[in-house]
Amino acid sequence: MPTPLTLTFKIWRQIRPDAPGGLDTHRLEGLSPDLSLLEALDVLNERLIARGERPITFDHDCREGICGACGFLVNGQAHGPAAETTVCQLYLRQFRDGQVLVLEPWRARAFPVQQDLMVDRSAFDRILQAGGYCSVNTGSAPEANSLLVSREAAASAFDAATCIGCGACVASCPNASASLFVAAKLAHLGQLPQGQPERRQRANALQEQMAREGFGHCGNHLECEAACPKGISADWISWMRRERWAG
Ligand code: FES
Repeated sequence: MPTPLTLTFKIWRQIRPDAPGGLDTHRLEGLSPDLSLLEALDVLNERLIARGERPITFDHDCREGICGACGFLVNGQAHGPAAETTVCQLYLRQFRDGQVLVLEPWRARAFPVQQDLMVDRSAFDRILQAGGYCSVNTGSAPEANSLLVSREAAASAFDAATCIGCGACVASCPNASASLFVAAKLAHLGQLPQGQPERRQRANALQEQMAREGFGHCGNHLECEAACPKGISADWISWMRRERWAG
């Protein structure tokens, strides 16, 4: 049986977007190392509710690293210290007994804090909406082999398509740039035949909406690539810039 852990959590508490926030300290003893970090927050929330206190608000959905709903800073690192891991896939065994964990929401002007560890990421939705639709007459289901896609193009597009839109790239960037997110979305469609209509227009629209939402410029710090839980390469940002000015 694994040795239980004692951890101290310093957690950002903020009741409303316009309210001041601060760190609350909670010490939890007897935690199983096999608990995920979110499950440790569940344990803490049950205790807070039992005491009649407000539970900690944090985003989550699948808890399997696939939906992109979760995300906050653990000791200043987006999604915590493990490489290519969402915070929902972070387990307490990855921390030391007695360690202090500071949990804070994403810090970016375009992601205003809603409550505690939850931020408003609807700016990402508006960026995608700015791309509009693909002018492809889908008709009935096409014959699978009628639209040829090379293996290289399919694999490369799939790499970009693994972006889950969690916002870790923005939270890690000193400029709070959304360049890796936007580049991944453009590179997903832009490498496939179905994405060729409006390809240049889409590249311009998404990048202009990114600027309107208040995200900063890419400064080639590459923190986004290091923080991305899906390991998406920052090379796509160079690709995105060429897309914008090529056509
Ligand atoms: S809750 Fe879905 S990726 Fe973390």
